Amino acid sequence: MLVTGGAGYIGSHTCIALIENGHSVVVADNLSNSNKDSIEKIKHLTSKEIPFYKIDVSDQQALENIFANHHIDGIIHLAGMKAVGESVEKPALYYTNNLVSTIMLVNACLKFNIKRFVFSSSATVYGENKVPFVETMDLLPPANPYGETKIMCERILTDIAKVNPAFSVSILRYFNPIGAHESGLIGEAPNGTPNNLMPYVTQVGRGKRQYLSIFGNDYLTVDGTGVRDYIHVMDLAEGHAAAIEHLTKGVHVYNLGTGQGTTVLQLVKAFEAANRVTIPYKIVDRRQGDIASCYADTSKAQRELGWTAKRDLLSMCRDAWRFEQNFQEA
Ligand code: WQD
Repeated sequence: MLVTGGAGYIGSHTCIALIENGHSVVVADNLSNSNKDSIEKIKHLTSKEIPFYKIDVSDQQALENIFANHHIDGIIHLAGMKAVGESVEKPALYYTNNLVSTIMLVNACLKFNIKRFVFSSSATVYGENKVPFVETMDLLPPANPYGETKIMCERILTDIAKVNPAFSVSILRYFNPIGAHESGLIGEAPNGTPNNLMPYVTQVGRGKRQYLSIFGNDYLTVDGTGVRDYIHVMDLAEGHAAAIEHLTKGVHVYNLGTGQGTTVLQLVKAFEAANRVTIPYKIVDRRQGDIASCYADTSKAQRELGWTAKRDLLSMCRDAWRFEQNFQEA
């Protein structure tokens, strides 16, 4: 199995889940937002060899070199740029990167007769639909290029699969992955100031940042703060393994979430209780582009993949904190 973006946060956990399910894994990653250390840690945790290629997956020659050297029976495509704010500032970069890499990989699949393809999409494609989000809903383009690239890649894959009946595609729409591998060895280590809630909370927890800014408490939710469907990254990773096991011809779309909505304040309280640390916070203005509520209808993944998220919010908070404490930089 080729995992693009396999050195990253979701990729590294997915490699572990795939290996635990009996797959051999080859990783391609340009390390633009990750570190090769994570590959060493996966090897350590699984006691397996992982061939690693530091390449851009949009580099056709480099990609074909991998197919020449390894028997690849499927691709899990997780490489991509994912910062919403940066995508607004650098749309050309986002469209080029996220679209070209996907197209190159699909062309390689057709050329090398690789029939299984899993694509990492996002709940962002639902825009402001009514919660819970169901796979059959019309997509509402989110107002940022990052989200547009996810919708466009979904459409590209759907069109190509339509005329290549042997090609099987699973599109996974992630909700909000948080937490870390139970070993505390791998986790989310963003460069610079974190954009996302959990890495910000863990950095406040250890005093790297003074307080958390909570973006708005005037949403129509139980306590006024935003509701999200936080999912343990290992559950998400296991969702990829389930998607590969159950892949059949055609295009299949699955939500990977827990189905549970949690507010920002509830997450902060859960984190404090789980880890006995205090997270000082201030309520500030809403963040542009945020929606009030986002959580999944998870019944399709349960029905067709036999997969549900198993780990609760407490484990997510504990595991995120364990990783932060192990790997804090100065
Ligand atoms: C969660 C909640 C914030 C930070 C984004 C992308 C999505 C996906 C995951 C890619 C919201 C609040 C956050 C902070 C806060 N993409 N918050 N203070 O926005 O749901 O999803 O990341 O990788 O496509 O849109 O996740 O973690 O940024 O925010 O109050 O400092 O926490 O307003 O309610 P989001 P998030």
